[in-house]
Amino acid sequence: MTEPSRIYLSREDIAGLVARLAGEIDGNYRDRPLALIGVLRGCFVFLADLARQLQAPVRRVDFVRVESYGAKMVSTGSPRIVQGIPRESITGQDVLVVEDIVDTGATTAAVLRYLRRHGPASLSLCALLDKPSRRQVDVSVDYVGMTIPDHFVVGYGLDFDQRYRDWPDIWVVEPAHED
Ligand code: PRP
Repeated sequence: MTEPSRIYLSREDIAGLVARLAGEIDGNYRDRPLALIGVLRGCFVFLADLARQLQAPVRRVDFVRVESYGAKMVSTGSPRIVQGIPRESITGQDVLVVEDIVDTGATTAAVLRYLRRHGPASLSLCALLDKPSRRQVDVSVDYVGMTIPDHFVVGYGLDFDQRYRDWPDIWVVEPAHED
């Protein structure tokens, strides 16, 4: 069975990344109220920590939910927003999208497209982890916690088959070896 095998980022490492990101964001927004928009479900731990580290006023917090299609359903196209947010949470707001990880970029691209349609005053993207080597859709992350190679990581909100989201550290899951 495939299990998380080693800690990749300890909770202390993660706290350092979150503090640095909050500082970068504060430097750009200063006293401008921010609308934080998290992409469910993986973002929930990171967003909670980031929101509490920011000095910039958090005006509102909302969440979008995106349904991704597996490889067997590629013909159905790109991910779909299945739970949107009220228009007033976006229109005219300084919106910061909060992602746990950007991988192929498909999820984030769909979210950014959806948000742009509702006319935010500004739109930026913060991701704790970025895997640019896996990118299939052109998405650039404004605030990156850490760029990582193509490891499968779990914990701190990230799952494997819905497990491990509650683990405080981030672990690597090694692929199972055929004997
Ligand atoms: C994960 C992660 C991102 C997305 C990134 O979500 O939270 O939202 O994948 O992958 P991409 O760049 O290849 O689109 P997932 O779809 O696994 O759902 P979850 O957040 O509920 O775990």
